Amino acid sequence: MSDDKTVNELLTANRRLLESIAAGDWAAYTELCDPSLTCFEPEARGQWVEGMDFHQFYFNLGGASGPVNITISCPHVRLMGDVAVISFIRLVQKLDGNGSPVTARSEETRVWERREGRWWHVHFHRTVG
Ligand code: GLY
Repeated sequence: MSDDKTVNELLTANRRLLESIAAGDWAAYTELCDPSLTCFEPEARGQWVEGMDFHQFYFNLGGASGPVNITISCPHVRLMGDVAVISFIRLVQKLDGNGSPVTARSEETRVWERREGRWWHVHFHRTVG
């Protein structure tokens, strides 16, 4: 597979991942993630977290109820054999509790591993800007 095709495949998987989070779609999220997923993210208060239970807590609360639009800004894909690092800014437009539009922004680094003929999300670091 050419690097271009691989990059497209990775960006598609990465977008599906972000859309599954916005939709609260746990089945889609778990399909893309290795069960031993690790991360740093603001909800973990500076702690390194391993596994899916931490993330499932938020999915159990349900996805956004109103319209959501996700923009993946300036994605950069670094391929290193069967590992890829995608870094980007995520913008999520949604409505706040009063129905006013707000935009959430985060800086994200997401690591993917190719195994068994497909890409698995294995680690991420998310910072809220
Ligand atoms: N909080 C879950 C994720 O960003 O993948």
